[in-house]
Amino acid sequence: MAFDFASLVPAGSPPPAVRWPGWAKYNFTFGNNDPDGLAIADLAAAAQTALTREGRRLAEYRLNTGPQGYKPLREFLVKKLKRDAAIDCTADDILIVSGSLQGLDLVNAALLERGDTVICERDCYEGTLNRYTRRGINVVGIPLDQGGMRMDALEEALAGLKAKGVRPKFIYTIATVQNPTATVLGLDRRKTLLALAESYGVPVFEDDCYADLTWSGERPPAIYAMSTSQNVIHMGSFSKTIAPALRVGFVVAPWSILSRLLALKTDAGSGGLEQMMLAEYCEAHFADHVVDLRKRFRAKLDTLVAALNEQFGTAAEFDYPPGGIFLWVKLPDNVDTMKLRDAALAAGVQINLGPEWSIDKAHSKSRIRLCFASPTHDEIRDGIAILAEVCRKQFGVPTRSSNIERRQA
Ligand SMILES: Cc1ncc(COP(=O)(O)O)c(C=O)c1O
Repeated sequence: MAFDFASLVPAGSPPPAVRWPGWAKYNFTFGNNDPDGLAIADLAAAAQTALTREGRRLAEYRLNTGPQGYKPLREFLVKKLKRDAAIDCTADDILIVSGSLQGLDLVNAALLERGDTVICERDCYEGTLNRYTRRGINVVGIPLDQGGMRMDALEEALAGLKAKGVRPKFIYTIATVQNPTATVLGLDRRKTLLALAESYGVPVFEDDCYADLTWSGERPPAIYAMSTSQNVIHMGSFSKTIAPALRVGFVVAPWSILSRLLALKTDAGSGGLEQMMLAEYCEAHFADHVVDLRKRFRAKLDTLVAALNEQFGTAAEFDYPPGGIFLWVKLPDNVDTMKLRDAALAAGVQINLGPEWSIDKAHSKSRIRLCFASPTHDEIRDGIAILAEVCRKQFGVPTRSSNIERRQA
């Protein structure tokens, strides 16, 4: 008889994983990158150059450049963050992490304990929300409008919590190309957010992994850059701009908190080859690469929007996003996306359902998130046609007449 490990697992552990069933044929989930957008030859050349020049470093834990990560990569980030996000920092302010998911874990481990309260956008990245659930955190979701997190609602929430004697541990925000709504918090709201954070004594945790992917190439300064009181933790990633499988992200933060993250990062350093290759590649190619990537992603978004308009007509409501890799779509109220997800999967189409990406389950019940970076244009068109057919069979929408209405409009 097989050994019973289950009896040894501590109470409160997450449920066991299910074996990976593979991707569906039409995969609109998971925030993958575009395989055709990867500059494989340049990445290979960068790895070759870096290895030839200083491959001997791989013989040492942490490449002999200290526990905060490969120094040339941090030096690239100093320049990049200054140019793109108006962040003034030095390599000593940066910690390289194994993907920003590790950054989330480190910040959570450093600051949160069961029963704590965190504020974030009402619709929010599933990986962040799951982590709060697992840690037993009370999450207060702030509604968004087209300009991102609503500051009146944030103020109300902070005041309400204060009245109850609750001081939230931080305000987590994906301010620039928010996941899943793709909204960008404007300059004035950033100022208000910082003013509120200061007056309530609550720090800000800025998750910025999509900020390079606005179609215009423009973005407001990072909240970190605007703070005058060292109350912001800034986090970024190479997953969305280069490749998620590399697992390289970074945290920029005051030493008072960075030193705590470092104490919790007990993995003896993130992958060395990835950091060396990225440093080499990014110095020469990053800026041009993201220009190309934005064009690719926008073209795919346009294919997705055209497919939704054609297949769903007015039954699919969404705002055209200013950047990113996903579309947050509202379907008619009678569509239960939990049921839609299962039926779509059986037909080979994988989607993210709203309630997993939101604190407000009722508001998100008929919403879905569609990632458009990795499927091909044909897969987008065919996948959306199948999704519409499944939705029609299950819920009677979109009706065929609504398609005709939209085409004539
Ligand atoms: C808002 C947000 N934060 C963090 C992550 C994790 O990214 P990484 O691959 O850097 O761990 C994602 C991935 O989708 C994300 O959307």
